[in-house]
Amino acid sequence: MYRTHTCGELRIAQTGKTVTLAGWVQTVRKFGSITFVDLRDRYGITQLLFGEELNKELDAQPLGREFVVQVKGEVAERTSKNPQLDTGDIEIKVASYTILNKSATPPFTIQDDTDGGDDLRMKYRYLDLRRQAVKKNIELRYAVNRAARNYLHENQFMDIETPFLIKTTPEGARDFVVPSRMNAGQFYALPQSPQTFKQLLMVSGYDRYYQIVKCFRDEDLRADRQPEFTQIDCEMSFVEQEDILGMFEGMIRHIFKTVKNIDYTEAIERMSWEDAMWQYGNDKPDIRFGMKILNLKSAFKLGGKLLATGDLINGAGFGVFDNAETVLAIAVPGCSEYTRKQTDELTEWVKRPQIGMQGLVYIKYNADGTLKSSVDKFYAEDKLKAIADAAGAGKGDLILILAGREERTRKAISELRLEMGRRLGLRKADEYKLLWVLDFPLFEYAEEENRWVARHHPFTSPKPSDIETMINNNPVIENAEKYLEHPYNHIKANAYDMVLNGNEIGGGSIRIYQRELQEKMFAALGLSPEEAQHKFGFLLGAFEYGAPPHGGLAFGFDRLCAILGGSESIRDFIAFPKNNSGRDVMLDAPSAIDDKQLTELSIQLALELRRDSL
Ligand code: AMO
Repeated sequence: MYRTHTCGELRIAQTGKTVTLAGWVQTVRKFGSITFVDLRDRYGITQLLFGEELNKELDAQPLGREFVVQVKGEVAERTSKNPQLDTGDIEIKVASYTILNKSATPPFTIQDDTDGGDDLRMKYRYLDLRRQAVKKNIELRYAVNRAARNYLHENQFMDIETPFLIKTTPEGARDFVVPSRMNAGQFYALPQSPQTFKQLLMVSGYDRYYQIVKCFRDEDLRADRQPEFTQIDCEMSFVEQEDILGMFEGMIRHIFKTVKNIDYTEAIERMSWEDAMWQYGNDKPDIRFGMKILNLKSAFKLGGKLLATGDLINGAGFGVFDNAETVLAIAVPGCSEYTRKQTDELTEWVKRPQIGMQGLVYIKYNADGTLKSSVDKFYAEDKLKAIADAAGAGKGDLILILAGREERTRKAISELRLEMGRRLGLRKADEYKLLWVLDFPLFEYAEEENRWVARHHPFTSPKPSDIETMINNNPVIENAEKYLEHPYNHIKANAYDMVLNGNEIGGGSIRIYQRELQEKMFAALGLSPEEAQHKFGFLLGAFEYGAPPHGGLAFGFDRLCAILGGSESIRDFIAFPKNNSGRDVMLDAPSAIDDKQLTELSIQLALELRRDSL
């Protein structure tokens, strides 16, 4: 037997017991004739004491960092206890030890505060995974996995695997493709999600399906995106939107309770997509804090709402506002005393290329009720007061205003709002706010191609009240300039996103389940009947054999774990992640393959690529 106990297990009650432990050497500290060693395994750290009699042996067979050792000895009470460690009351008086395996000096310290940079840690990810901080994340991931499975199992969901070598599933990204040796010149695509399969399973009568499953998307990467990531993918039959929302509110509450011991009993807020865009500048608002956006000028382009207060700012001779497509403001609470240096720094912040604004206008609503701004030349105090009131500001607040092109400005103010929320400590890692965003537009206008694309995916159904509009109108956009006026622009989808602390953690929809409507949808997206048949004939065919009404959603499992673990980066929660260029630096993948393999696959590389890979 390699061990009788783990390194996290022994307590004062076991004093006097003879035990065998096995693990990795974390540290070796020699004090004269005795040596202390911290022995680590997955469960914790136990201090070992090598007395005088073993020191000779240690000199002959020294222990180094990350050596794998087995020790036998007696549990003893420590003279100086370590309250930081679960095993901190005891140590093992080592009677004998065996080096099971040596270790080269690790390239970084295997500790919470490691000296290893990102690249180095990823290259030696198997060592990085030994660190307590990373292990905690992997454990949390498993806890979320278990909680989700238990909940879904209790609710009659069945885990059914779906294939990875498939034909494209359009989820808005590029496909990763796999060449087929047996079908020369042909390629499989890796699934961007199991979307069409789970729908087919509904047609087959498996009315509650789930899978914790890998999805593959060749898209630009960010902290919350990986080329291969995991979804908790679910689908249900005979349901309406409300059934789905209820079922998965139940699941997320269950996960909060089991993983974080948090009773998330409050009602989960719901917001229309339009309100989200209008009030928060994006479709995944962080509602842990207010600071809603006020539109000081233009009407909301995409929706019907006109909350503009243009008369407050227009015509004062301030060209930046007069000429801008939109002017947006937020009222930052308690910041009216910002110094010149601080407002200058904020101005630089919005001018960074990632934000891309020309400048920042501010109004200080001082505690004494006076107002001071960077545009005093153009606006008298009563005007400033009116703007401040409109922005919902009170005494002591700082109003920040951005002006420019609609889309960019909305994005920028949304980022600024989040940044100010962060700076003011309003985005607390241990506070959780869930939100459903509903009533998304069904279509999005793709300017370059002058056509509609599905905002969610092409299997999402329109709201029942909008089906007529979809069927009775020609999708063709005659006048690109006036695409906003096209009836398709107002069709709402039966789709929903779950948002947690400003992150989209899941999304789904009620599906189209009639062949005619699905055909209409493909046509609206610019697919000819032949193309639709070629790409999705299997689904259209299935819809002819008694497809039940159905819908579902998928949670971004990695994202959910990252947020529950208090991190922005999903990489920390994936055992073997890729870097931001999509590379696995440990495997050094992707990599060139040899000519023999290429020949077998009937693939010839372009000449310049061949040279690069040699
Ligand atoms: P969607 O594309 O919205 O829906 O994906 C569902 C959730 O998956 C997460 N996610 C990602 N996580 C990490 N890296 C990525 N590259 C990435 N892309 C998406 C997000 C997102 O909310 N088939 C539909 C679901 C459905 O309609 O049922 C789908 O895949 O958290």
